Amino acid sequence: MSQSAAWRTHACGELRAEHIGQEVTLAGWVANRRDHGVVSFVDLRDRWGLLQLVADEDAPQTGHEGLQGLHPEDVIQVQGVVRARAEGQSNADRATGEVELLVSAVTVISRAARLPFEIAEHIDVPEDMLLRFRYLDMRRKPLKTALERRTQANHLIRQALVDEEFVEVETPMLTRSTPEGARDYLVPSRVRQGSWYALPQSPQIFKQLCMVGGLDRYFQIARCMRDEDLRADRQPEFTQLDMEMSFVDEEDVYALVERVMASLWKGLGRDELQLPLERMPHADAIRRFASDKPDLRNPIEIVDLAAQGGTLGFVVFDKVLEGGGYVRGIRVPGGASLSRKQIDSIEQAAKDAGAGGAAWCKVATDGPSGPLSRFLKAAEGDAPVDCPVGIAGLSVAGAAFLRELEALPGDLVVTIADQPRRALVALNAIRRRAGDLMDLTGGPDRLVWITEFPLFEQDDDGGFHPAHHPFTAPVSEDLALLEDESAKDRVRSRAYDLVLNGTELGSGSVRIHQRDIQQKLFAAIGLSPEVAEERFRFLLEAFRYGAPPHAGFAIGLDRLYGLLFEVASIRDVIAFPKTATATCPLTGAPSMVDAAQLEELGIVQSVPSETTT
Ligand code: AMO
Repeated sequence: MSQSAAWRTHACGELRAEHIGQEVTLAGWVANRRDHGVVSFVDLRDRWGLLQLVADEDAPQTGHEGLQGLHPEDVIQVQGVVRARAEGQSNADRATGEVELLVSAVTVISRAARLPFEIAEHIDVPEDMLLRFRYLDMRRKPLKTALERRTQANHLIRQALVDEEFVEVETPMLTRSTPEGARDYLVPSRVRQGSWYALPQSPQIFKQLCMVGGLDRYFQIARCMRDEDLRADRQPEFTQLDMEMSFVDEEDVYALVERVMASLWKGLGRDELQLPLERMPHADAIRRFASDKPDLRNPIEIVDLAAQGGTLGFVVFDKVLEGGGYVRGIRVPGGASLSRKQIDSIEQAAKDAGAGGAAWCKVATDGPSGPLSRFLKAAEGDAPVDCPVGIAGLSVAGAAFLRELEALPGDLVVTIADQPRRALVALNAIRRRAGDLMDLTGGPDRLVWITEFPLFEQDDDGGFHPAHHPFTAPVSEDLALLEDESAKDRVRSRAYDLVLNGTELGSGSVRIHQRDIQQKLFAAIGLSPEVAEERFRFLLEAFRYGAPPHAGFAIGLDRLYGLLFEVASIRDVIAFPKTATATCPLTGAPSMVDAAQLEELGIVQSVPSETTT
């Protein structure tokens, strides 16, 4: 590492036995100070590590005095000679542990006030404190390392794409709304009062315009802003690796993204990615895992029990089936070993997901036990059925039910009976919960393409909105269905997602590049031709001047890095993240603004501002 001669000759973390005897100048933060009579020690820290400074009877008086007045986190400059530590005093846990600096002069550059928390890795600090004093948290190793690794990963990605002749384009921040399904953050215009910019939810339309512009291959490490309800893996502003290519189809996008991922995995020293990646049609993912982002490390699959459930004489199942609902369940291998409390937590996961509950039983050789078991056992007086896997005491229907689930003695069976949408959410929740409880998700990374998404999703009020975004191409055979109100849910799209261990990493699609089809799509989501023209004139107009077929993809980099760096939250890979309520404890944003500022913008505020602390 080269250092500016103005302040230091070396970094603290770089000194080793080979530097012994050299006169050096260092600068950094005081990590701690220990005084042992005539000997004083200070650990000096910079980004590259810690070095022990010492003043003892060999040190000039100035060095001694200098060290004694120091406080934690003072910024200092020191001069001295590197020497070997005394026999038996080496610190094998520290890269600089064989040496120390015998200090001859100390200059205090900047004093530190009393700190809100100690700068040490082992200290647990409440997250709001870490966010408020993010610059102090940055002095600790985990955040610093995450930001260094993020730099390395961004560099690997950029390198891979530049090698493939992609052009990096910075698209505008002050723009028109780009519909990605969330609310926009709006910015008022001062010069055209009453008009608003929207911050981009993604560079979607601009990257398509780059294709009309003939760039052929675009990428950007792009900031995106979405005003949406936040969850663990969502931030109001986040970063995408955004890409678009011309004259390509799905296969080209899959192959490109796989090459970029493989370079990243390799560059970060992870196990080599096995290419091509797995693929799974959307319908299969929903049927087998009740999720469009299944964690395939968890082997539990959903089983449709409609036929068998209807024969059990269980009134809850019967009612749900009559109402067109689902009776589906999971077999948790070895799950009979779970405690009542753990099983209750599976049931609770179903309830939290909106279902009324979950019916379960443990399976043993002497028969099932638990709430569901009485519907599976032979009634008194009836001859029990011999189950081929050796489960005793079952009714005919009960044996068929367990056979459908392929249940074995020692398993736990959990079933959900509910309206289709709620049932799927609950099945996903119980599958995940059971997978966590049984420790089923520890295996190697499972990246999977989810393909053949439907073009539309139904809202709770029955209307349809694009499952991806309105620029996604329908499968050409389904074009005719676009105008048929009753067939909207059957229109297939050319959209795809990439899922890593149960997290949606990225999404993309082949785009519409024909003006008339784009207009049809706008009409299908309820935009009148006038509104569509007004809002998307710039795209529709571009399509009149020669638009190539194109397709693209965007990966959420915060999510990707959160998973790759194995941190607890995406906030841990973001330098200045927001809280779950989209606030910034560091700056106090969002905050009040001066009345004069509002007046200048022509804005009259109808609610009183909340005072921020
Ligand atoms: P999409 O909206 O699916 O697609 O976003 C792509 C990826 O961005 C990440 N992501 C987020 N990460 C953190 N916080 C958020 N609030 C957040 N929202 C999304 C996810 C997601 O998979 N323009 C299209 C892409 C395209 O069609 O090319 C788009 O933005 O990892």
